Amino acid sequence: MDQSSAPVRRLFFGRDDAETDFTHGLLRWGFQPTAAYDAALTGRKTLIIGRKGSGKSAICHRLMAGYEGTALLITPDDAAGDEIRRFELQGVTADTAKSLIWRYTFAIQAARHLSAHARPAHGWRIPRAVRALQSFLQANDETGEDRLYERLRRGVRRLQAASLALKAFGVVEATAEFNGGTEGARALRQLEVLESGVLAAFEALRCTPQHEPLLILVDQLEQVWNIDPDSHAMVTGLLLAAKHVTRCYGGAVRCCLFLRSDIYDSLNFSDGDKFRSDELRISWTQPALRDMALTRASLSLEQSLTHEELWGGVFPATVEGEATSDYLFHRVLARPRDAIQFLTACRDVADGQAHPTVQPEDIVTATKQFSDWKLQDLAREYLVNHPFLKSLFTLFENHGYIVMRPALDRRFQAVQGSFQRGYPAYAERLTTQGVIDILYAVSFLGVKRGSDVVFAGDTQVPVQRHEDEFHIHPCFRPALGSTTAMGLPPYSPDNDVDSPPTKSSARSDAAAGQQISRDFHLLTELTRSCGRILNMVDRSDLPEPAGKELSGQIERVLHAARHKLDLQSSGKSVDSTAHVTSAANYFRELRTRLTAGGVQDERVLRRLDEQANALMATVGGAVGSGGGSESSL
Ligand SMILES: Nc1ncnc2c1ncn2[C@@H]1O[C@H](COP(=O)(O)OP(=O)(O)OP(=O)(O)O)[C@@H](O)[C@H]1O
Ligand SMILES: [Mg+2]
Repeated sequence: MDQSSAPVRRLFFGRDDAETDFTHGLLRWGFQPTAAYDAALTGRKTLIIGRKGSGKSAICHRLMAGYEGTALLITPDDAAGDEIRRFELQGVTADTAKSLIWRYTFAIQAARHLSAHARPAHGWRIPRAVRALQSFLQANDETGEDRLYERLRRGVRRLQAASLALKAFGVVEATAEFNGGTEGARALRQLEVLESGVLAAFEALRCTPQHEPLLILVDQLEQVWNIDPDSHAMVTGLLLAAKHVTRCYGGAVRCCLFLRSDIYDSLNFSDGDKFRSDELRISWTQPALRDMALTRASLSLEQSLTHEELWGGVFPATVEGEATSDYLFHRVLARPRDAIQFLTACRDVADGQAHPTVQPEDIVTATKQFSDWKLQDLAREYLVNHPFLKSLFTLFENHGYIVMRPALDRRFQAVQGSFQRGYPAYAERLTTQGVIDILYAVSFLGVKRGSDVVFAGDTQVPVQRHEDEFHIHPCFRPALGSTTAMGLPPYSPDNDVDSPPTKSSARSDAAAGQQISRDFHLLTELTRSCGRILNMVDRSDLPEPAGKELSGQIERVLHAARHKLDLQSSGKSVDSTAHVTSAANYFRELRTRLTAGGVQDERVLRRLDEQANALMATVGGAVGSGGGSESSL
């Protein structure tokens, strides 16, 4: 096939962010309608919360393009964020002050919208209330196309000095009655006049029954978010203002806020409970992500693919024995950005190898690369809230992906002091339970619950103190070198060189006979030991993948011992002493690793010890036939 027409060449899953995707048209045609989109569109929910890359901006841009009324997007940049964070008013709390500057911003946006919208949408005769708004905008220099930052600067100055020009609404600002009280009280009175003016204009035009409300969208607040109290007040102020706006304009204006879940979850304010029914958390299922991948692949290949054609034509049907789409989507956190990045990585590796379609080995290569990216991205995603996250990952490097609570406790205790000294502001949360809660909340760890392992997006129930089995998310395992359940060292038999039978004298025949019988005895004992351990693993309480891993390794020991026995019976000389000694040492090593992984089932640990000791005793005592371990089955 001509490489330029190969599917891999044309395959394109899109960009990492909605803003660029939208510019390239991908979101226009490839947008996946979701419950969150629906809720925002219909106004059922006004607070759309999602993790980084979960599709907040995608919904925002889709609303901007597809909303039947007018939609305005506010995305504060650094300068605007600084203005809001610095804004304060004497006599009111920081939350209230910030809510007033947001209310002011919304009122100005609404006034500007009304001023432009009155004639085209409602006919030539402009009502008095709208003309008043236009005069207000003119008197306050708000008619130009300034940036949000400039508008905010003016608003900040005017609210602090109570210097809004309100004559257009028939108010004489200079009166003592109007100007008395604290800075906060004066700003509030001025704002209320402006808001009543805007409401009067909406009512005069009778916008509400005639068309969709004005939709104000606020996105990308994370760009100006910091851990400081002013950032906190900036967001709580926004929530309060958004709620106020929906009420105060009689349904003619609606605000929809798009917030990162780490920001929203870190808010702590008394009115927090009043937002519960406004909240919607974006969640993605694996089938929805698969559909998104299919749509994007179909768009780029300009043909309407079926899942079978994508996962069995463009991609291979299986990777390492797993159906490809299961393999891929099991290894991403359930959000579109991660899925797009993994698929793109597979595509890029295949393209680099000049493969016309993606091959299993391309996916395996991409898996490690993607895992490395995502581990770094996770630390970056939470850099503000949990700056120590990256350092915590080292606790999991080169161990198994299952971590039992006692093991985690032990590993963390060893470094707790240095963490607390390094991050004194977070010292309170730097306990074993605190660390588990954080790692669970960011979906690095899942918790074993019943027969499932659940991750934070699947449930709202936090980790309970009695829960003690945690699994690293498959996304991060390759990057940490934690690809097996317990990180057990793989068994490799000693490198005996099996030599052919030698011709021997009468005396050496006797010695050889003794050796043969010793070899047979030792190797048979080793197979029995393996059987005893396997028996115990079957009955144990080990986590299932840990049991499988351990059994798998013991099976290898058993297989190697049987192979030696076969060689021995065909007359080859085998070094049974070295072989059995190394197997016994291997059992001890397994015990140590299982203990380090926090396995508490004493029966398995004891069985490994017993069998190692018994084998060593047999090695030391077995001369000729006879002897043997006393271990019970
Ligand atoms: N519903 C959807 N349908 C199709 N593609 C989507 C959808 N939602 C998100 N995407 C895609 O997923 C990627 C990430 O989405 P987006 O940029 O909206 O995430 P975000 O939540 O805004 O992230 P951040 O917090 O980093 O700004 C983008 O490429 C976007 O086009
Ligand atoms: Mg975004």
